[in-house]
Amino acid sequence: MELGLKGKVALVSAGSKGLGFGVARALAADGARVSICSRGSANVDAAVQKLIAETGAEVIGTACDVTQAEAIQGWVDQTATRWGAIDALLVNAGGPPGGLALDMTDAQWQAAFELTLLSSVRMIRATVPHMTNGGSILTITSSSIREPIERLGLSTVMRSGVAGLVKTLADELAGKSIRVNNLIPGRIETERVAQLDQAAATRSGKSVEEVRAQSIAKIPLGRLGTIDDFGAAGAFLLSPAAAYITGATLRVDGGMMRSI
Ligand SMILES: NC(=O)c1ccc[n+]([C@@H]2O[C@H](COP(=O)([O-])OP(=O)(O)OC[C@H]3O[C@@H](n4cnc5c(N)ncnc54)[C@H](OP(=O)(O)O)[C@@H]3O)[C@@H](O)[C@H]2O)c1
Repeated sequence: MELGLKGKVALVSAGSKGLGFGVARALAADGARVSICSRGSANVDAAVQKLIAETGAEVIGTACDVTQAEAIQGWVDQTATRWGAIDALLVNAGGPPGGLALDMTDAQWQAAFELTLLSSVRMIRATVPHMTNGGSILTITSSSIREPIERLGLSTVMRSGVAGLVKTLADELAGKSIRVNNLIPGRIETERVAQLDQAAATRSGKSVEEVRAQSIAKIPLGRLGTIDDFGAAGAFLLSPAAAYITGATLRVDGGMMRSI
């Protein structure tokens, strides 16, 4: 299927690794011009080189911590200055720390709010004025917005807020022909998932292999997802091919989630 991304301008935050990188690669492979950001300039530079080498697309990158309002504005404006109107935005960031909800301090709650929810508001607010031809916005949340995950209370609460933001903005931005959707990754193989498996192994006294095998046993398709599985779904929702889809949440989880 033709996605219609050729020449489109896409912003991908937290795009130097993992899920963000997977979406950036799928967009670039389909001919979009892609501007990524993440905190570490070495990570950004390496990812830009890799994306250009693998896809031949126009790709640029900026070091930007999405908890910083001015850094977000700089990244978005810089991209618009270079390429003009923006067509697509992937809203992504690192995940908040794990632990029991009531063990988290006020400072940890505030940091999770800024990392997950406020950063989403800020990225969308900075980008919408540049979506002068309409556009598509996609957030990444977690299965925790449907089925809370043990010891990930900060993620569950803040990501549920992002899901509410998506439905709210799908209404508020429809008049500007801007679609807003959400992707739920189940367990996609990235550094973050490797760290979570390591932490679970340390807590339970099991090996990482045992922890991994237990999580795979809960996935009907019998494997973890790849960043390419995830990227394909992301590129579709960000593309003109998804023109009549807004306010939707799509699971990319190999059937893992049990809720109907
Ligand atoms: N993988 C999964 O199956 C899964 C499932 C559910 C939810 N999620 C969530 O999806 C998001 C991405 O996960 P992932 O697995 O791709 O993680 P990852 O492999 O750890 O990659 C995280 C990426 O985010 C960047 N980043 C982190 N904090 C940032 C910040 N404050 N500002 C800008 N960039 C930042 C990192 O680069 P720098 O270090 O250079 O900043 C890196 O490029 C996370 O929020 C994660 O919790 C993932």
